[in-house]
Amino acid sequence: MKAGSYQRLGVNIDHVATIRNARGGSHPDPLRAAFMAAQAGADGITLHLREDRRHIRDEDLEGLIARVSLPINLELAATEEMVEIALRHKTHAVCIVPEKREERTTEGGLDVARLHHSIAPLVQTLSAAGRRVSLFVEPDPIQLAVAEAMGAHVVELHTGAYAEAALNGDKQLADYLAVQLADAARLGTKRGLEIHAGHGLTFENVKPIAAIHEVVELNIGHFLIGEAIFTGLDGAIKRMRALMDEARS
Ligand code: PXP
Repeated sequence: MKAGSYQRLGVNIDHVATIRNARGGSHPDPLRAAFMAAQAGADGITLHLREDRRHIRDEDLEGLIARVSLPINLELAATEEMVEIALRHKTHAVCIVPEKREERTTEGGLDVARLHHSIAPLVQTLSAAGRRVSLFVEPDPIQLAVAEAMGAHVVELHTGAYAEAALNGDKQLADYLAVQLADAARLGTKRGLEIHAGHGLTFENVKPIAAIHEVVELNIGHFLIGEAIFTGLDGAIKRMRALMDEARS
């Protein structure tokens, strides 16, 4: 592998909490999943504290910060309540994501161009408090320009449309969207932004995204937790790690 081309894998543990919450109680414990992810080679733990607390709860965040040594990437909506939580709980990074109560997952990137006036002060507040701020955006040059202007450190490119096209077998569209992601990654890097990517990635569709040199981190959750039912979390993470390394070798 080329020196310096290592790509970090952030494992999103939200859906361990989804299964736990289906029955109440404390099993399966997202904290235990984070320990296992660390052992399997994850480079970071990602979690999304949603406003409705449908999966991760405040006490999960507290437990992770207290007991997990990996960098923690806290995803949250651009609301006062969430920013206040991010200021009270020090994590390595904070990723601002769009959030609607009725959606099942994060559908589409944050439109930072349209929401500039409300997002920019949050980026400044979090940066001033020493958080590495990431914005989850579509691979669009305008979004990247606005993210840079706001002083974000990182953009996470939304791979959902690419992932869906690839899984639906629409190769032409998937190839086009992968090129769009690669172009955005190059442009963002030129603008001084660190580039991450994620959403909807699986063993089947990860390689073209893992191969984008400028993408230094992938955040993957739903597929890994689902696959863990069949192969265990350790096996699922190790296989994803191997596919990412193959794509970059
Ligand atoms: N990155 C961000 C910003 C997300 O909101 C999500 C989903 O919560 C992911 C990555 C992971 O997506 P998935 O669960 O589809 O792998």
